[in-house]
Amino acid sequence: MTNRALFLRPASLADLNALVALEKACFAAIDAFQRPALRRLLLSSNTVIVAEDRSGPSPDLIGESIILFRATSRIARVYSICVAPAASGRGVARALLEASMANARERGCDRLRLEVRKSNIKAIGLYESMGFATIAIKRGYYGDGESALQMECPIAITAGVPA
Ligand SMILES: CC(C)(COP(=O)(O)OP(=O)(O)OC[C@H]1O[C@@H](n2cnc3c(N)ncnc32)[C@H](O)[C@@H]1OP(=O)(O)O)[C@@H](O)C(=O)NCCC(=O)NCCS
Repeated sequence: MTNRALFLRPASLADLNALVALEKACFAAIDAFQRPALRRLLLSSNTVIVAEDRSGPSPDLIGESIILFRATSRIARVYSICVAPAASGRGVARALLEASMANARERGCDRLRLEVRKSNIKAIGLYESMGFATIAIKRGYYGDGESALQMECPIAITAGVPA
């Protein structure tokens, strides 16, 4: 896939089957969102962005970013981000995160926050390279007892330059 074949767009209910399959391919069963939760997210006022590889005869859904918003908070939360193993290492997650930051900014937020397994070196490397810093460690956060790093990134625009 070349960068020219990568397209990002808001997800719709028509993407539900592909999103269920993507979560299954990317996450261990304990971490993957199941169909009912994904359906609820797609029908909510939160944001789901999908990445498509359009190099073939029909588009292939290769990544997703789910961002949660609360009316009373200027902190948006990256609830899930993943890229199909076959498409990894080509900047797709970086593009999804940039689009998520832009979306959160448009919706009036000034920070993006997320949790990541402390063993997920690749994701942590990606987040740090994009300006996220660890603000807390949440012990035993995951169902199997692993701790999470809580990371945060400022996204407000200050005098035309991202903070
Ligand atoms: C983590 C994940 C989203 C990354 O997706 P991706 O499209 O392969 O990532 P990108 O190609 O956009 O970014 C790669 C960046 O990750 C970082 N990275 C990659 N491998 C790394 C490693 N071994 N150590 C540290 N950082 C690493 C680098 O910053 C790299 O950027 P660079 O290539 O410019 O140096 C993807 O592997 C995935 O879906 N994993 C399973 C689900 C998951 O863990 N999601 C995160 C939950 S918090």
